[in-house]
Amino acid sequence: MSPDRSGYPEDKKTAVEKVTVRNFIKYKQRGEKIAVLTAYDFFTARILDQIGMDVILIGDSVNMVLYGSPTTLSVTMDQMMYHTKAVSSAAKRALVIADMPFLSYQTGIPEAVTNSGRFLKEGGAGAVKIEGGLELADTIKRIIEMGIPVMGHIGLTPQSIHRFGGYRVRGKSEEEKKYLMESAKVLEEVGCFSVLLESMPKTLAQEITESLKVPTIGIGAGAACDGQVLVINDILGLFEDFQPKFVRRYAHLGEETRKACKNFLDDVKSGKYPSNEESY
Ligand code: KIV
Repeated sequence: MSPDRSGYPEDKKTAVEKVTVRNFIKYKQRGEKIAVLTAYDFFTARILDQIGMDVILIGDSVNMVLYGSPTTLSVTMDQMMYHTKAVSSAAKRALVIADMPFLSYQTGIPEAVTNSGRFLKEGGAGAVKIEGGLELADTIKRIIEMGIPVMGHIGLTPQSIHRFGGYRVRGKSEEEKKYLMESAKVLEEVGCFSVLLESMPKTLAQEITESLKVPTIGIGAGAACDGQVLVINDILGLFEDFQPKFVRRYAHLGEETRKACKNFLDDVKSGKYPSNEESY
C-alpha cells in the first residue's frame, strides 16, 4: 500500500466536509465572506486545504508566476491539467476550480464542453472558471447544462489584454459599466454559481454584488464583494516583478529564499556544509 501523504490525522479523514458550489449561495445568504487563493502544486494546496481555505483556484496565472511568461495567453490545456491534478489530489475539503485556458472555450460550444469537462473528469476539479460576459452566455449555459459548474469572470479579463490595450481598470466609462452590469446578470441567469470581478471601481463591484443572488469574488474590486481571491505567489512575496495596488504581501518569501539559498551556497563554497553531524 502506498503511504498516505494527505497530512490529515486518521480520525479526521472522514469528518472533512467538502465545500461544493451549493455552499456558495449559503455563504452569501448568511453574509460569510468566501476566501480563495490560487495554488498550482500538491504541497501548497494541502496547506491551503488544511487551514480551511474555501476555494483553491488553479489560475492560468500559473503561466506567469511559475513559467515566467509575460501573459496568461500561452498556457495550454495540458499544463492546466497537470497542475489541476496535483491540486485536486491535495484538496480534501476545499472546492477546486480550474481556469479554462485561452482558446479552450472561445472556438465553439462542443470544444468548450469537452475541455471544461476534462477538468472534472481527468483533473478532479469541482468547477471551472471562464473569462467573459454576454458574448459567452450560450457557451457557458451549455457547459452548465452538461453538469459542469462554472464561475464567471468579468472586468479585467487578462486573456483579453491585447483587445483592452493593457492591464487597466475596467468599468470606468458608462459603456463598460453597462456591459459589466448586464454580463453579471446574464452569467447568473445562465447558471453560474459565482462571478469573479477583477479590477473595477469598488462602487460598480458593490452594485453588481447587490444585484446578484450568487456570490461575487473580487480581486482589485473592493471590499463589498462576497469573497476575495489573490494569487498565492503575490501574497507570499514570491512574485516580485511588480505589485498591483490590490495585492497585500503577507510574507517576503522571495527575500527569504534568496537568503537561505545564498547561505547554502556560501557554506558549500567555504566547506562549512556538511558538518560531521550531517554526515554518515
Ligand atoms: O489566473 C488567476 O490567477 C486568476 C485571478 C483572478 C486570481 O484568474
